[in-house]
This record gives sequence, structure tokens and C-alpha cells, in this order.
Amino acid sequence: MVNGKKILIVGLANKYSIAAAIAASLHEHGAIVGYSYQNERFEKFINEFSSNNGGGLTFKCDLSSDKEIKGLVNFFAEEWGEIDGIVHSVGFAPSDQIAGNIEDCITREGFAITHDISSYSFAGLIKEAVPFFSENASALTLTYVGSQEATPNYNVMGMAKASLEASVRYFSATLGSKGIRVNSISAGPIKTLAASGIKGFKSMLNKHGSETPLRRNITAKEVGDTATFLLSDMSSGITGQTIYVDGGYNIQAMKFD
Ligand SMILES: NC(=O)c1ccc[n+]([C@@H]2O[C@H](COP(=O)([O-])OP(=O)(O)OC[C@H]3O[C@@H](n4cnc5c(N)ncnc54)[C@H](O)[C@@H]3O)[C@@H](O)[C@H]2O)c1
Repeated sequence: MVNGKKILIVGLANKYSIAAAIAASLHEHGAIVGYSYQNERFEKFINEFSSNNGGGLTFKCDLSSDKEIKGLVNFFAEEWGEIDGIVHSVGFAPSDQIAGNIEDCITREGFAITHDISSYSFAGLIKEAVPFFSENASALTLTYVGSQEATPNYNVMGMAKASLEASVRYFSATLGSKGIRVNSISAGPIKTLAASGIKGFKSMLNKHGSETPLRRNITAKEVGDTATFLLSDMSSGITGQTIYVDGGYNIQAMKFD
């Protein structure tokens, strides 16, 4: 499906990261995977993970810096010649922004940081990568249904995800003529480092697991396999979409007994 495709994964922090499951699935299906990581704290893990999953290149990039985003894309473009796919699996909100009622915690600074890292960083990456994308390249980001539905404690992160999903539509509209596709996966809750920062995440996970049509939580592997499909030519007719991998949670207005 993705045999020989050169795919850059941005947002791998540890073995629980959704990016880890995406990387494992891509590797299993024959892709050449490269990784970027936020800072030195993650370096040892990334190098170990990479050597167990094809031994791809790794590069440090803090997405709050335009210079570092440019450096990342140029590094992989020089090493690979062209880029067949990018996975953006990144989100961040200061902890005080995702705890409590929005009117009690939202600040201008919290709003700016959350939108910068959780939404703009995708736009910044794609913008830099466009000249190096191969024909039929595919870009992917990760979102959550809190962009569409008010979700307790998710707050400004929901706004940033709505912006991210709009970004997917805008980039797909203009890059489609070059054969480049842009999509997002809206994943159900999965226990990761980023998710643990959301107040009440455990009860969200339990409720979601018991109330979705599938009556269970989804796994990171299910997200990884859907990502592989979206990065492959098997999904050549799909662009500008939010694909839900959430056990069907989003289609319910209420729970049916
Ligand atoms: N876990 C869930 O329940 C869930 C559900 C739906 C969507 N998502 C989304 O999936 C994506 C991945 O999150 P995850 O749950 O795997 O958690 P994670 O903590 O493993 O991944 C988040 C990543 O963002 C990176 N990051 C944060 N700030 C950065 C910066 N300034 N520069 C570079 N990298 C930065 C972190 O280093 C980390 O690798 C996020 O967009 C998240 O919102 C998660």
C-alpha cells in the first residue's frame, strides 16, 4: 500500500503516542519513515524507536519556530529528494486552559499558544513542504470531535481543532490540482501523554467506551492503519476530509439502548 513511500512523522514522543502506532503500521506496510521530535528530552527514545522500525532518519524540530520547521523540511527534502507524505500528530495547550469552564480559564496567551502549536504548525509544515511533495503526496493531521461538540474541559483546544480542520479543507482545495491530498483523522480518546493533560480524561475515556456504537474504545493501531490507508494510493479519491476513527461516536445524537 505504501511500499517505498517516504513519509515524515511529526509528533512522536513515546511508545503511547498515536504517532508511534502510525509509524509501526507504515513500517509494517513497507514505507520509509523519518521522524522529527520536539526537543532533546525525546532524542533517546526516538533513536531507539526508529532503529526498531526501519532505522529511518530523525531530526529535532520545535514547531513554534518557523526557522526550525524550514530546517526540518529542507533536511528531509535533501535526504530523500522528494516527500511522499507528512503526518502531523501534534497538539499542545497550557494545562490551565484545559481544566474547568472556559469562561474561568481562557486567556489571550493560552488561546495564542494553543492555536499556534495545535493548528498553525500544520499549516506551516505543509507550506514549507509543498515544493518538495511528490506527485500524489498525502498529508495528514490528527483531530478530535471536540472541534464540533462542546466537550467538558477541552475548551480552547476544541477551537484550535476546528481551525485545524478548516486548514485541511483550505489546503486540500488549492493543492488538489497538484495531486496533493490533505486529510485529518478524528480519533476517539486514547490514553497518551497529551490526553492525560485534559482534566477528567479518564471519565471521558470510560464514557466513550461504553456509549459508542461499537461499545468500546478504539485502539491506536486502528488509527495507525487508517493513517496508512490515507497515506497510500488506495485512498486516491479522498481529500479535504475528516475521517472519524472513533467507534462511531460522532454519528449519535443520543445513546440507543
Ligand atoms: N489521545 C487522544 O485521545 C487523542 C484523540 C484525538 C486526537 N488526538 C490528537 O492526536 C495528536 C497526537 O497526540 P497524542 O495523543 O498521540 O499525544 P502525544 O503527547 O504522544 O503527542 C503529542 C505530540 O505533540 C508534540 N508537540 C507538542 N508541542 C510541540 C512543539 N512545540 N514542537 C514540536 N512538537 C510538539 C509532542 O512532543 C508530542 O510528540 C494530537 O493532535 C492530539 O490532539 C489525540
